[in-house]
Amino acid sequence: MRPLAQTLTVCLALSLSLAAPSLFDGPKTADHHGMEKHHDAKIDRCQGVEFDAIVPDEHGVTFFFKGDYMWTGFHGDAALLNRTYKELSHTDAAFRMHHPDSADHDHIFFFLGDKVFSYYQHKLEEGYPKNIAEVFPGIPNHLDAAVECPKGECAADSVLFFKDSKVYQFDTRNKEVKLRQWSHLPNCTAAMRWLEHYYCFHGHNFIRFHPVTGAVVGNYPKDARNYFMRCPKFGHGSNDTERERCSHVHLDAITSDDLGKAYAFRGNFYLRLSDRQADGWHAFPISSTWKEIEGDVDAAFSFDGKLYIIKGEQLFVYKSGTDYALIEGYPKPLKDELGIEGPIDAAFVCGDYEVVHVIKGQKMYDIDLSATPRTVQKDALLPFPRVDAGMCGPDGVKVFVGAHYFRYKSPMLLSHSRIRPHPHRISLELLGCDH
Ligand SMILES: *[C@@H]1O[C@H](CO)[C@@H](O)[C@H](O)[C@H]1NC(C)=O
Ligand SMILES: *[C@@H]1O[C@H](CO)[C@@H](O)[C@H](O)[C@H]1NC(C)=O
Ligand SMILES: *[C@@H]1O[C@H](CO)[C@@H](O)[C@H](O)[C@H]1NC(C)=O
Repeated sequence: MRPLAQTLTVCLALSLSLAAPSLFDGPKTADHHGMEKHHDAKIDRCQGVEFDAIVPDEHGVTFFFKGDYMWTGFHGDAALLNRTYKELSHTDAAFRMHHPDSADHDHIFFFLGDKVFSYYQHKLEEGYPKNIAEVFPGIPNHLDAAVECPKGECAADSVLFFKDSKVYQFDTRNKEVKLRQWSHLPNCTAAMRWLEHYYCFHGHNFIRFHPVTGAVVGNYPKDARNYFMRCPKFGHGSNDTERERCSHVHLDAITSDDLGKAYAFRGNFYLRLSDRQADGWHAFPISSTWKEIEGDVDAAFSFDGKLYIIKGEQLFVYKSGTDYALIEGYPKPLKDELGIEGPIDAAFVCGDYEVVHVIKGQKMYDIDLSATPRTVQKDALLPFPRVDAGMCGPDGVKVFVGAHYFRYKSPMLLSHSRIRPHPHRISLELLGCDH
C-alpha cells in the first residue's frame, strides 16, 4: 500500500474538504514527518480514501487503515492507529491468520517495509517485529495488500499477498509460494475477506475476485462508500431503515437455506447475510422477496430445499431457488402443519436431521418432520426466558437474545447446559457494526 504522500498532508491541513481521491495517489514515499502538526484534522473516509489495509480482528470487527489513522467497523470516525496498535505508525498490508492448529491462529499480522508485526488482542507478540523474509519466505518487502484464505475457500490455509501487479499465494503450513498471474486485477492497495467473499480495493473502489482463479464476475469496480461504510448521500446507506441496522439490534428470525443464502429478518425488512450476488450489506422489504408476507415474521427455517416462514398462526412454505415461490395451498394453519400453536419465537433445523426445533417462551419443542401428522415429540426447558431467533449450521446452534447471540454445539447442549456461553454481539459479528 502506498504510504501517505505529502499531498495528503496538505489536504489534511485544509481539513475535511478533501476533494478528489486522486489527491491520495502521490508518489510512494515513506516520509512521514510533517504529519505531526495535523493530527487534529482527521481523515473522512466518506471523501474517498485509498486504504492501506482492511482486516478483521479476532472478534470479526473490520478495521480500516490509512496512514496513521484507523476506523473500527463500517461507520464512525478515524482514530490514531497507535492508540490501538501502539508499535505501529502506519501499515502497508494486514491480514488475520487462519491456521486453527497453530499458535498464530487469529493473530493479526501487519506489514511495514521489510518488517512484520504479529498482534493478538491488540498486543504485540514477543519477538516481533521480525523480517518478512524470516516469517514469510518468498514474500517481498513493501507489500501492497494481504488477505487470508482458509482451507475450503483455497485448497489449503493460505494468504494472498499483493505487490504491484503480482499476487503471491503463501501456504501457511508448508510455506510454499505460488505466483499468480492475475493481470486483469487492478493493483490492490488493500484486500479483505468478508462473508467468504474476497475483495481488492484500489482508490475508493473495489472489485470482488475469486481467491483461487482470480476471476472477477459481475459489474465492478464499485464504490466502497456504497457498500463498506456508511456515508451520507451514498447508496443504500442513506436509507433510514439501513441506518437502524446498528441501533435496533434484535432480530425476529434468521435462517440459511440449502443454497447457502442466509437471511436475518427484522421488522418489515430482511438482510442478506451472505449471498453470491451481494457485497457488503443491504436491507430489503420482506415483501419484495416473499410477496405474500406482510409485516414482520416470527420464525424461519430451511428444510429439504424449502424455506418455512412462520407468522402468527400461519405457516408459509416457499420453494428455494433464485426466487422464492409460495407452494400451492399455503399459508396453512401452523397447528395443522406442525402440531403446535402460534405464536412461536424461533425455529431451526440442523443439517439433514428431519426435526424442527421450535422455541416458544422458555421451552423448545422437537417436531419430527417426517411423521404424519406432525406432533411435538419432546420438549425441554431453555436457559433463556425468551429467545428472538435461532439457527443451526455446521458450527452448531445459535440462539439470538436481544443484542446478543449464544452458540451451542447442538440442540441437546442448548437445553442441557447450565453454563451460559460467551455472548456474541449481533451487530458487531453479523452485521458489521462497530458497537
Ligand atoms: C502516535 O502517533 C502520533 C501520530 O503519528 C504521534 O504524534 C504520537 O506521538 C504517537 N504516540 C505514541 C505513543 O507513539
Ligand atoms: C501496477 O503496478 C505496476 C508496477 O508498479 C505498474 O507497472 C502498473 O502500471 C500498475 N497497474 C495499474 C493498473 O495501475
Ligand atoms: C428506503 O428503503 C425502502 C425499502 O427499500 C424504500 O421503500 C424507501 O423508499 C427507501 N427510502 C429512500 C429514501 O431511499
